[in-house]
Amino acid sequence: MSTKKIIVALDGHSSCGKSTFAKAIAARLGYIFIDTGAMYRAVTLYALEHGAIRSGMVDEQAVEAMLDQINIDFRFNAQRGASDIYVNGDLVEGKIRTIEVSNCVSAISSIAAVRQKLVAMQQEMGVRKGVVMDGRDIGTVVFPEAELKIYMTADPKVRAERRYAELQAKGDSVTFEEVYANVVSRDEADMTRAISPLRRAEDAILLDNTQMSVEEQMAWFMERYNDIISR
Ligand code: DC
Repeated sequence: MSTKKIIVALDGHSSCGKSTFAKAIAARLGYIFIDTGAMYRAVTLYALEHGAIRSGMVDEQAVEAMLDQINIDFRFNAQRGASDIYVNGDLVEGKIRTIEVSNCVSAISSIAAVRQKLVAMQQEMGVRKGVVMDGRDIGTVVFPEAELKIYMTADPKVRAERRYAELQAKGDSVTFEEVYANVVSRDEADMTRAISPLRRAEDAILLDNTQMSVEEQMAWFMERYNDIISR
């Protein structure tokens, strides 16, 4: 295998399997997987637990004032084969994917100071390359020079069905309609926010996985990866 290492930037809509795909790619290549959505979720959870979000309303000034108190780090969990996210030393991996966090994360991720802090951390994590980073602005803002950029999407109903099944498996009593409404509203919020909206970078390759298995996506990816690495 080549010793050349690159940055793989994986952007796209919510719940289209980006993280699962990114994790599989990282395992295959021996790269580090970084889930940047987890970082925005971790800040959202902290804001919820520290009174900066009340009845769904985000107090932006309070969030900004809290930012210096929020220390995020990832620690590898051999059992999961992926990294868990910690806030100020507390494991929060299991608490950041609830519908409550999902409903507030768009507002948190549209705050400039939040993005500034998290983007700087992400750039630092990719300094030595050999990373697969998934998010919304990786190929456009965090690593515009990434060697391989993928823009992922899938039909919103299919995405909501996947997320609903995941939440149900965890015992969450959410309804399909709630999950679907959240997927549609986050697409809208992600694509229309003023700072770093979700958009396909000009040099990103489109991957619509509505009808693709993880194996098919991997074969699709490896073809493109090998092409780049052999140049
Ligand atoms: O990937 P996810 O659904 O867990 O991300 C949660 C939210 O975080 C998503 O609705 C938008 C935001 N996000 C972002 O603004 N920029 C990123 N790089 C990653 C996520």
